Amino acid sequence: MDNRSRISKIVDSLPPSGIRQFFDLVIGMPDVVSLGVGEPDFPTPWHICERAIYSIERGYTSYTSNKGLRDLRVAICEKISKEWGLSYDPDAQCLVTVGVSEGMDLALRAILNPGDKVLVIRPCYVSYAPVAIMAGANVVYLDLDERTEFKLHPELLKLIMKKEGPIKAMVFNYPCNPTGVSYTYEELSAIFKVVEDSEVILLSDEIYDGLTYDFSHTPSFVFDGLKDRLVYLNGFSKTFAMTGWRIGYALGPEDIISAMTKIHQYTMLCAPIMGQVAAIEAMEHGSEELERMRNEYRRRRNFIVSELNRLGLKTRLPEGAFYTYTDISSTGMDSMEFAQRLLWEEKVAVVPGVAFSPGGHRFIRISYASSLDKLRQAVFRMEAFLERL
Ligand SMILES: Cc1ncc(COP(=O)(O)O)c(C=O)c1O
Repeated sequence: MDNRSRISKIVDSLPPSGIRQFFDLVIGMPDVVSLGVGEPDFPTPWHICERAIYSIERGYTSYTSNKGLRDLRVAICEKISKEWGLSYDPDAQCLVTVGVSEGMDLALRAILNPGDKVLVIRPCYVSYAPVAIMAGANVVYLDLDERTEFKLHPELLKLIMKKEGPIKAMVFNYPCNPTGVSYTYEELSAIFKVVEDSEVILLSDEIYDGLTYDFSHTPSFVFDGLKDRLVYLNGFSKTFAMTGWRIGYALGPEDIISAMTKIHQYTMLCAPIMGQVAAIEAMEHGSEELERMRNEYRRRRNFIVSELNRLGLKTRLPEGAFYTYTDISSTGMDSMEFAQRLLWEEKVAVVPGVAFSPGGHRFIRISYASSLDKLRQAVFRMEAFLERL
């Protein structure tokens, strides 16, 4: 038996992550300005760390309930009740997960039978399709492009639903990684009306909800007609600069949350207790720090978008997250060539758009979760690069 044949056919068929592949090149290169990673450059606010440290000092180092610390689930549901007047039952409709990553995996595995269709809207976060495929899905894609400014329109959704027939679930993410696109209440209403009129289960990844810059984020759970078919996924990684703590949560109908909990208890047992304690602190006292980080990201966004456009690289103003999705077609290069040359020649790392969709070959993703100084340096280097072309 050769080594290849012992690997599961599904796993073997998955392409390696485009981002990873590219960033293997960056590792070990000195003096690189990296605008590649999708991770806040801020450390976790200190009061959040301190609460976790204090809990460790008091001996909180054990497993928790499979569903997660009840105090955290209550804090999550109470916040929603206070802010939106909606009730989620912390015992039956809420599950604490190891990041949104685990939440998405659990949701897909909990609802899919082999061959069920899952709609993935591209360009999107690199994990959705592979995780769906590993859960047995037949993934169907809806590719967005600059004609709609990478926004999902209800007509596009209607069209694909008509073309594909029954779709079991749809993965939706806003604000979006990599485009930064988000939606107003009215836009969401129109999109979700199409979902409501179908049988589709909506898996809504709103991990960047706190990082919306020009209007406030409308969560999918406020749309009443969705409630029985919505799995809402969120977490602490981006909003509170807590990527390493690995805490997310899922809210949804009791049967789906219970099925997700079943998988979770056999695979993860529970999310790490220290992270859960830290997440309680973030829920209870994190809003000021969040506001500070959001203001800083907004400043950076405004700076980088205006500079990229000045350099002739067409960039729309993203409504949220911390990425620009920048059109590099004016250079005559495709995204991989552009990103590789920019890295070799000027030591600036960005992500080629092909990592997010086949149509991404004319785009790069730039993360502005980097200090203004670094962004200035990157712009300076990019300008030199573009002048030489
Ligand atoms: C859209 C989106 N969802 C989920 C994740 C992963 O989140 P977590 O750290 O909560 O697993 C990321 C990370 O980049 C992301 O961009």
